[in-house]
Amino acid sequence: MKKTIAVLPGDGIGPEVIEQAKNSLQTVAEKFGHTFIFKDGLIGAVAIDKKGNPYPIETHKLCLNSDAILFGAIGDPKYDNNPIAKIRPEQGLLKMRKALALYANIRPIFTFKNLLAASPLKEEIIKGTDFIVIRELIGGIYFGKKGRNTVRTAAFDTSEYSQKEIEQVAKYAFQLAQKRKKRLTVVDKANVLETSRLWRETIQNMEKDYSDVTVTYMFVDNASMQIIKHPSEFDVIVTENMFGDILTDEASVITGSLGMLPSASIGKKTALYEPIHGSYHKAAGQNTANPIGAVLSAAMMLEYSFGLKRERDAIYTAVENVLNKGFGTKDLNPKTALGTKELGEKIKKAI
Ligand code: IPM
Ligand code: MN
Repeated sequence: MKKTIAVLPGDGIGPEVIEQAKNSLQTVAEKFGHTFIFKDGLIGAVAIDKKGNPYPIETHKLCLNSDAILFGAIGDPKYDNNPIAKIRPEQGLLKMRKALALYANIRPIFTFKNLLAASPLKEEIIKGTDFIVIRELIGGIYFGKKGRNTVRTAAFDTSEYSQKEIEQVAKYAFQLAQKRKKRLTVVDKANVLETSRLWRETIQNMEKDYSDVTVTYMFVDNASMQIIKHPSEFDVIVTENMFGDILTDEASVITGSLGMLPSASIGKKTALYEPIHGSYHKAAGQNTANPIGAVLSAAMMLEYSFGLKRERDAIYTAVENVLNKGFGTKDLNPKTALGTKELGEKIKKAI
């Protein structure tokens, strides 16, 4: 199989972890006889510095002309502490999501046997956790009207959803649940928000088309508690953009480190794969970042975009074997902490 992959390392620790993800893909290509052509593009703060635009048109064209996108992270502290900055790196990510119509963000939450002790939660609670959060990614409060009053002393953000937008992402979630344990949890705040009531109504109307799936509706405040108390009881969760953003950071602690988790964003055009950890500037350039989230994102690409199941398994098994041998970056508290490159090399060899 021959595929072109757009590589957007972005900011902070992005470039370091993406290099390791690329290495895993290259190793898989050699082992299984595929050709992956990697083409680099700019996004985020580095793109602002070089092009004055966090998502330059060249990058958009590159994405459209590729079979999949491997993305690192976006963000720079020099913008975080400047609330009046007109151009921000995050705009690049939001623009890309919208321009590529990436409506479903897929964030799997799972544990590794050898890392159960690395979680701040008790082993008996997190054992067997294996669920997927489907976060709506191009609607809601992230993209609604926002602004200030004329004297700038008051501000507003609006959340809007159409039935069509809800159906689109819910359909994806129903179909995924059908392939798994056939349990779908819809997370909303229907006791307060009108958008949530539309989510509930829309999904209730879809239930008859997926009669093999058991649907549960849960308020987001309760869900945030249940995810920590009974994580192994979830299968597929579907929710709006903002709730999904918050709940997936919360859920990531189950795994022991935010650095472990991959994600996929699927839409009508090229799909995008990225670790969920973000740019984490404090560790940038130090060869300490955990590359596993990025490496597993590459594995998700093999499965979701290219349908290469065996190749995907080769990466997962390699990661598992390396962890079982006690190797890890310092966030995992291993006996001896390896650097980003060194852990990447171990995974490569294991593949
Ligand atoms: C994420 C991030 C982004 C989001 C930021 C960087 C805009 O937190 O991908 O979860 O809020 O969607
Ligand atoms: Mn987030």
